[in-house]
Amino acid sequence: MEYRDGTRCVKAGLPEPVPGEPFLPGPVFAAPYNLDPVTGPAPGLDGYGRMDNPTRRRLESAIGSLEGGDCLTFASGQAAITGLLLTLLRPGDMVMLPADGYYQVRSFATATLRPLGVVPLLVPTAGPYPSFAGVKLVLLETPANPGLDVCDIAEVAAAARAAGAVVAVDNTTATPLGQRPLALGADLVVASGTKALTGHSDLLLGYVASNDADLLAALRGWRDRTGAVPGGFDAWLAHRSLGTLELRLTRQALNAAAAAALLATRPDVDWVRWPGLPDDPAHQVAARQMRRMPGVVSFDLGSRERAIRFLSECRLVRPATSFGGLHTTADRRAQWGDDVSEGFIRLSCGIEDTDDLVSDLTSALDASLAPERTAAVEGGEQAAEA
Ligand SMILES: Cc1ncc(COP(=O)(O)O)c(C=O)c1O
Repeated sequence: MEYRDGTRCVKAGLPEPVPGEPFLPGPVFAAPYNLDPVTGPAPGLDGYGRMDNPTRRRLESAIGSLEGGDCLTFASGQAAITGLLLTLLRPGDMVMLPADGYYQVRSFATATLRPLGVVPLLVPTAGPYPSFAGVKLVLLETPANPGLDVCDIAEVAAAARAAGAVVAVDNTTATPLGQRPLALGADLVVASGTKALTGHSDLLLGYVASNDADLLAALRGWRDRTGAVPGGFDAWLAHRSLGTLELRLTRQALNAAAAAALLATRPDVDWVRWPGLPDDPAHQVAARQMRRMPGVVSFDLGSRERAIRFLSECRLVRPATSFGGLHTTADRRAQWGDDVSEGFIRLSCGIEDTDDLVSDLTSALDASLAPERTAAVEGGEQAAEA
């Protein structure tokens, strides 16, 4: 029987119940393990922590069950993405990367891939996609961070694979409950587990998932040799957090819907993007492809000054980067190097009560209006009342 999302999260990766044992066994902390002095390292026995850790394996089984593939975890999302890029790409290869996705991936392409002779092609997530002829790897990020455009994974993956490319999808924003790229035709999922997947803002994690044994073996070899693994405690915390993933995502999406609705009605907000809004340019594809909407909303307050005043006026919403956590956070993305306008805010809705969040956003937006603009808005209201 196929359980629903909440049940799958609660059960993911847990061992069969054993009387007297905990539901989720505690973290194993080990660099070396005891070896048999006669046989030495043996298959099925843990030998050294970079390769072997039972807490990490349990987490991988949990994430793999949600993504619908086998999973390898990494020390961070960037460790997973850069490991994937460096495992698959060779001098002369072309790699298609999102022009509007996580900016550090583009920085890595410039700083590391280009000097190695790999040719990056930047393509906007919403397309149009150029020919895939000669492309070795296509990395999609949908919804893209921070602009929240989406692409049709099945359509792009079919065309790219037909041309011989390997297709990977960054599933960070959607999470495996939001969409299952492997079922939509991708060869690989790669993601940051730092964000909504684990959701408590207390650890860094990355992973790849796939049903292609050769790709996974190559990535495992890369990870064994380079060593970017999560530690036992982080792996255990991540696994514990997975149990509430469905609950957290449900509340985050509810809060994002309320925040997007508020922002869309405010004349002092230049624009708002959330794939769940019926008139959002990404809505049709997102509604068809995604199993739930993300908790992230993007909007523009028109200027750096207004955005900073807004962040300073929030009482509940915290100014912080990252997204997907329990606490609602807001981030002015231009300060990190994203190619966005100065007033661009990425709002990551947490799991607070919706009314409290809407009220905080409303008062911070009101208070952040420039004095002259406040006067104009109040004048308008008086005129409307008159
Ligand atoms: C879409 C996306 N992918 C990957 C990463 C990198 O993840 P990490 O910060 O865990 O290295 C991020 C980080 O913000 C991200 O937003």
